[in-house]
Amino acid sequence: MSVAEIFETMTYGPAPEAAAPAEAWIAQHNGRFDLFIDNRWVAPRDGVYFDSVNPANGKPLAAIAQAGSADVEAAVRAAAAAQPAWAGLPGHARARYLYALAREVQRQSRLLAVLETLDNGKPIRETRDLDIPLVARHFAYHAGWAQLMSRELPGYEAVGVVGQIIPWNFPLLMLAWKIAPALAMGNTVVLKPAEFTSLTALAFAELVRQAGLPPGVVNIMTGDGRAGELLVAHPRVQKIAFTGSTEVGRQIRTATAGTGKRLSLELGGKSPFIVFDDADLDSAVEGVVDAIWFNQGQVCCAGSRLLVQENVADEFLARIRTRMERLRVGEPLDKAIDIGAIVAPVQLARIRALVAQGVEEGATLWQPSWACPTEGLFYPPTLFTNVAPAATIAQVEIFGPVLVSMTFRSPSEAVMLANNTPYGLAASLWSENINLALDVAPKIKAGTVWINSTNLFDAASGFGGYRESGYGREGGKEGLYEYVKRSAPKVRQASETRAARIREQEEQPRAQALNGLPPLDRTAKLFIGGKQARPDSGYSLVVSDPEGRALGEVGEGNRKDIRNAVEAAHAAGGWAGTTGYNRAQILYYLAENLSARAQEFAQRIAGLTGSDSAAEEVSLAIERLFTYGAWADKYDGRVARTPLRGLTIAMPEPLGVMGILCPDEAPLLGFISLLAPAIAMGNTVVIVPSQSYPLAATDFYQVLETSDVPAGVVNIVTGNRDGLAAVLAAHDDVASVWYFGPATGAAAVEAASIGNLKRTWCAGERPFNWFDREEGEGEEYLREATQVKNIWAPYGE
Ligand code: NAI
Repeated sequence: MSVAEIFETMTYGPAPEAAAPAEAWIAQHNGRFDLFIDNRWVAPRDGVYFDSVNPANGKPLAAIAQAGSADVEAAVRAAAAAQPAWAGLPGHARARYLYALAREVQRQSRLLAVLETLDNGKPIRETRDLDIPLVARHFAYHAGWAQLMSRELPGYEAVGVVGQIIPWNFPLLMLAWKIAPALAMGNTVVLKPAEFTSLTALAFAELVRQAGLPPGVVNIMTGDGRAGELLVAHPRVQKIAFTGSTEVGRQIRTATAGTGKRLSLELGGKSPFIVFDDADLDSAVEGVVDAIWFNQGQVCCAGSRLLVQENVADEFLARIRTRMERLRVGEPLDKAIDIGAIVAPVQLARIRALVAQGVEEGATLWQPSWACPTEGLFYPPTLFTNVAPAATIAQVEIFGPVLVSMTFRSPSEAVMLANNTPYGLAASLWSENINLALDVAPKIKAGTVWINSTNLFDAASGFGGYRESGYGREGGKEGLYEYVKRSAPKVRQASETRAARIREQEEQPRAQALNGLPPLDRTAKLFIGGKQARPDSGYSLVVSDPEGRALGEVGEGNRKDIRNAVEAAHAAGGWAGTTGYNRAQILYYLAENLSARAQEFAQRIAGLTGSDSAAEEVSLAIERLFTYGAWADKYDGRVARTPLRGLTIAMPEPLGVMGILCPDEAPLLGFISLLAPAIAMGNTVVIVPSQSYPLAATDFYQVLETSDVPAGVVNIVTGNRDGLAAVLAAHDDVASVWYFGPATGAAAVEAASIGNLKRTWCAGERPFNWFDREEGEGEEYLREATQVKNIWAPYGE
């Protein structure tokens, strides 16, 4: 082709990146990789290997070890042996190691980028400019948190050995998202890469050695889902961090329920990309390219549902089609390629099947006129129009370069369509009207909202989902809490004090404790929708004092009562929209009204439990209401300084309707300690008071009634804790369940929460001393009552 012809057509010539250095690196390992345990390469005990294949040409790249149970055992053992010393290092020492890893990644960035492209099929432009620089950024950013841990997270320590399971769409980046915060906080890890894309994790293993990390701190277990299952099941693994499909996420939740293992899940999405009629349409077209054709659309937060305002839809779709004609699909190592290869035949088959189903269900398919390469696993960019909101392609994650478009007329319809999915990972909004964008952003149920931008990621911004997109955050300060727990020695000391107190109480002469006891009184009803309601069952339960004498009766709530209570709580959702100041006022008012009746409550508690610290319990309950009144307008979130021309605003948002099962200890204080943070953050609650001593909570109805708490914000159902917990945990309209009962009950709650992947917070075996200001209140409660939404907005030049 002559220069004149090139000027005429402006076509790109090939600009291939050399594969040779990556191939040489594979050859150095004789084309076969063992497992990385204790900083050594260890052959898999069963001697099984499988091929990792280049999806662009179908050729095997290397043989990868399949870890079996003996291997997982060895890796976990190595991690467990290394953990105390790693956590015991000064934060500065861990910071130095993480920084060294960041430097190693930078030093090897070209090799890693090429290797990633060969193994995954993603364009070299993306691995070179995005994946690998972000990997280095993650290690550098978390080096900083290691340095600051003791100052910024006092009272917290590492969880222990963490099992991490990652997918194939961003192999090394997902590794960094998982390993960097875990190591920074003093955990050691066993990481299992996805079976399609293990090579960069194995290259990373070499960097671990190069950076001089102590043996056992990072262990890499390759293999398919069976290896993942073994890791999840291992009793010495204290936490599982998973990114992948919703289906496997559910399996892991099932396997870990009741084991006491911590869990974070980052699952799929069907994220909306919303274009309002006043958007800069050309910018929005480029946004669409980045949203759905970046990484072949194999992105959990891909903007796969285009929602465009009806009056600009034809124009916008025409511009998209024009742009699609110019996209280039082909050899991923070519620097002029926009869309590379699909990771594996099974994934390509899934995309094809879903596209066929879209056509069958009546949607209109459009693809560019040019021919897609037929050698290798390629799929052309695809646009669907005339899509019904309930169509399979509008609901199911396709995980390919397929855009599904729908129209809307008004902003409220856009919000409705955007939220019409069980997922809630991300959303992208396009409008030149700041009022509109900032009005819509809080209404979208998603962990990340990008304004006039899309698919932006940074270590300083927490990433994670709402609803069935999972729970937990990766990145930002909020992501650190996934890898720490409250320090054990303090808890143990406090619990010993508590145990001593209980022993003392037991020794108190009953007569003294029961002094001033009110006589047997009326049967307390339930409290639903701001009114006292008779239990559906028509039954009541007798409440007795420690001597077994009947003190009163409470209604025995059942499934129907919980349903009514959830409905009332849902209807009171406007509470989330009230100001923090307003909620603070109501909490202070509750405190004031409780204080007016302090003596009566103290007598009640003494009568119920025989406690000699009843007066202290009431005064602490009043104080606790003040604590959360104080916090209601001060738990602000933060602005992350992501290195972009924008602000990333991390906003804690309420979860919605919460189910709370209270402990038996400290029947009033336990109840208030859980209720107050939940409502302070804007949630509405269905709360089940202490099963043995519910009268302290039923007396509280009158305090609620006189304190301007809007109807439905607090609903109280008395009865059998575990029976009611099961109903709450299985209820689709309950966003989170807090369970403060025995470990067996906690296991049942976790198991029942699998269906809609709701968040749970279970006390399990951990003692909570409600009398202790460190343990019985604090930010942990607020974190558990909120989810962080990160809003990326343009700012500055
Ligand atoms: P997957 O969820 O099966 O695989 C993710 C990881 O989990 C891999 O490392 C795999 O080996 C491991 N794994 C599989 N079964 C396991 C088990 N029972 N216990 C423990 N670990 C297990 O994802 P897959 O099959 O590769 O992709 C299927 C679909 O999942 C995609 O089409 C896409 O819709 C979605 N997906 C979502 C991702 C996300 O980032 N949210 C990433 C990858 C896939």
